[in-house]
Formats: sequence, structure tokens, C-alpha cells
Amino acid sequence: MDGQSDRAGPLLNTDNQRLLLQTAQALLRANDTGGFIKPGPAQYPHQWNWDSAFAALGLAYFDMARARAEVRSLLRAQWRDGMVPHIVYPTGPSDYFPPPAFWQTERSAAAGPLPSSGLTQPPILTTVVRQMHGLAAEDPAGLDFLREVYPRLLAWHRWLHTARDPEGSGLVAIVHPWESGMDDSPRWQPVLAAIEPAPSLTFTRRDRVHVAADERPVEEDYRRFIHLITLFRSWAYDPQALYERSPFLVQDAAFNAILHQADHDLLALAHLLGEDTRPIEQWISRTRSAFARLWDEADGTYYDYDLRGGRRLRVNTIAGLVPLFAGLPEPAQAERLLREHLLHPGRFAPDGGTRFWVPSCAKDQPGWDPRRYWRGPVWLNTNWLVLRGLERYGYAQEARAVADHSLELVRRSGFREYYDPRDGSGAGSLAFTWSAALTLDLLHRPPGTTVEW
Ligand code: GLC
Repeated sequence: MDGQSDRAGPLLNTDNQRLLLQTAQALLRANDTGGFIKPGPAQYPHQWNWDSAFAALGLAYFDMARARAEVRSLLRAQWRDGMVPHIVYPTGPSDYFPPPAFWQTERSAAAGPLPSSGLTQPPILTTVVRQMHGLAAEDPAGLDFLREVYPRLLAWHRWLHTARDPEGSGLVAIVHPWESGMDDSPRWQPVLAAIEPAPSLTFTRRDRVHVAADERPVEEDYRRFIHLITLFRSWAYDPQALYERSPFLVQDAAFNAILHQADHDLLALAHLLGEDTRPIEQWISRTRSAFARLWDEADGTYYDYDLRGGRRLRVNTIAGLVPLFAGLPEPAQAERLLREHLLHPGRFAPDGGTRFWVPSCAKDQPGWDPRRYWRGPVWLNTNWLVLRGLERYGYAQEARAVADHSLELVRRSGFREYYDPRDGSGAGSLAFTWSAALTLDLLHRPPGTTVEW
């Protein structure tokens, strides 16, 4: 790619970092099926929505054509109503549960052309597409690519702002924990507790074949996840029915923040392409004012809102820090997020017991479990969201510390799915795509690097 060496930041100057960069690139190549990049070679053999977006970001630094192909391949699975599904099965079933047939998406008239799930995931894709364009602004194919994908991105955003926010409140709802991308986060516990688990023994949990059971969601919750899907199937995935009847209906602070940033990026693309910007401006201003409702003044963080229960879900997790990524907190709120949470040794900061930033759940929460999935381990994608947010507020030193810890984790333990914040050991899937892809972004664009677009 043109100008690659010019863009390389200071972190690329040592042999170790060069090696890390080469290993990360090789991992993306190894997880490439040709048509799409798998999140992990054994545990995740299909295409996942935000995993593919992160993969495209990593690919953009060394193979822009392949990065574009990744974006296209995900958008190919888009439903007729605009939804972009959270799992796509372009190559058919595997030993992964749930298999494509489980979803019964053919019941929906809106289903897309490829076998897929009937849920969505955080829309980081538009942000990635904009960043990709920034890396290839001088490439004439860049604008053609934007023209090609823009209508699909717009349709997805529109779907989110209407099907998932029919009253135009400014905050979209998710209907299943899997839509948050943080599947078994303790923040869902108060809602899940009231949901009936599906009967046991009707399915085999393949997620436990490749990864130790104590690093995966607990059985009861998994059966609740399945119960929700059986309801959605019976309602033919009709968005109105899901919104009106799903027992899980939550305004997720992290999802809405990611969408808000993506709306800003969509707006920038609309300006570049000379497209109508008005609907996007309206989404942006609505979300900005509605988002304040998720702020908890007593605790100094953001919490999700349970629309069914009519209550704030006061569980302190990394999701509360993600709004920094979208520039949503006022400066005084950002300062509280920093002082009372990120830098608080009893919550997210290293304290001797934990040594790495940023655990996915605050350490003082009842759900804290440092090796189990979204209940404590460090994930590279949430670290990335938080450090890019810190950077934007001028907390350069803290952004740098989170980036350094992220790179230290991959250096010690390889590109794992998640890491134990106590000793930095890896857990979950091996050879995990987004850990490699975001390492590439951090190496090429260390915090503090001027962004050129
Ligand atoms: C898990 C994660 C989700 C991710 C998927 C594939 O379900 O919770 O965020 O997209 O695995 O890596």
C-alpha cells in the first residue's frame, strides 16, 4: 500500500514489534477462508459481524483490496429490511452451535440471501469503512468502493433507528445479549434472571468442545439465550413483534455509543459522496440528547436501560466507558469515568491482584469472574474502544497505557480471544482474528498519531 512506511508509528521501530506485525498479518491470512475471515480457526468457523469489521481494519494496513472484499462479503448477507446479521454461514453448517438451520430465518420475508442468524451486532463497520478510506484517500478505487457500500450502510443504520427505536427516542434497543457482542456480561443478569431457560438436552453446546467450560457462559444462561431465539423464530423475526414482545429489550450504552460514532462516520461519508445528510443529522442529534438518560449521577458512569422492567441496570462493566469512544460524555463526566472507574484500583485499574487494563467487568461487582468470557477478562476490542475514547478526550497518557497493556498481552500470550487480567494468560479461542487486527491498528496508529482524514 502506498505510504505504508510513512504511516508506521514509533512502535514499529524495534524488531519485536516488526515480528508482532508480521505474526498478526499471518494470522489474518491463516483465518481467511477466501470468502471471509473467521474470528477463530476452531471455535468460530463462520462469519461474525463486528469480527469481520475489525478484520477489515487490520487488513487495510497491508491489503486494502482484501479489506474491501471483507466488507463486501459481510454486507452481502444483509437482510432486505437493512439488518446486517450477527452470524453468517456462507459455507454451511459446521460443528458450531447454533447451526444455520436452527435460526429458521426462512420464516421471515425480510431474510437475506445467505444463511444467517436473525440478530445483529454493534455497527462498528461504518467507522471501519471511514477509517479505511482515510488510509486510501488518494486511491481512485476508494471513492468507488464508498459509493458501492454506502447505500447498504445507510440501510442498516436506518433499520437500527426505526425497527429498534420505533418511537424515535434516540436510543435503539437490543433484543438479545448476543446483539451486544458481550454475550454473558453481568449487566444482563438482572434481565436474564426473569427469562425461562430452554429445556436442557435439546442441543449440544459446541462452544465447549474447543474451550474449557469454566471460560464460557454458564449453562442456565445459555439455555435462556436459546429460549429467546425460539421466541423470535415463532414471531418470524418480525421487528415489531420483537420490539413489542421480547422479554429482553435493553438500551445498551455501548451499542448506542458505537452506533452514534458510526452515525458520525456515515455523515462524513455522505458529505464526501454528496448524499442527503438530513436523516443522519437527525439521528445524531436525537441520540446525543437521549444518551444523557443513561448517565448515573450517583455512580459516575453509564448504565444500560431495561425497557421492559423500566429500570437502569446498575452493573458496572466496561460498557460504561465505551461512550468515550463516541465523544458522548461531557468533559466533567469523562473525568469521573477516568478517576472513579478506569483509574480506580478496586474497579478497573491494576491493583496488584490484577495487573492489566481493562477488565470487562469492574472487580467490585458480584458477577466478577476473571477467566470467564465477558465477566472479567480483558478483550482487545473493548480496550481499543476505550483507548481511542481516552485519546479523543486528551487523556494521552492513559490511552497509551491501555495500548501498552494490550500489546503486552499479545506479546506474552499470543493473539487469544481474551486474557486473565491477573496474570495476562490467554483464554478462549486461539489465533483470534480481532486481537491480531487491532494489534495492527495499534502498531500503525499508536495513540497520539494524527489522523489524516
Ligand atoms: C462471541 C463474542 C462476540 C463475537 C463472537 C465471535 O460470541 O461474545 O462478541 O463476535 O464470539 O468472535
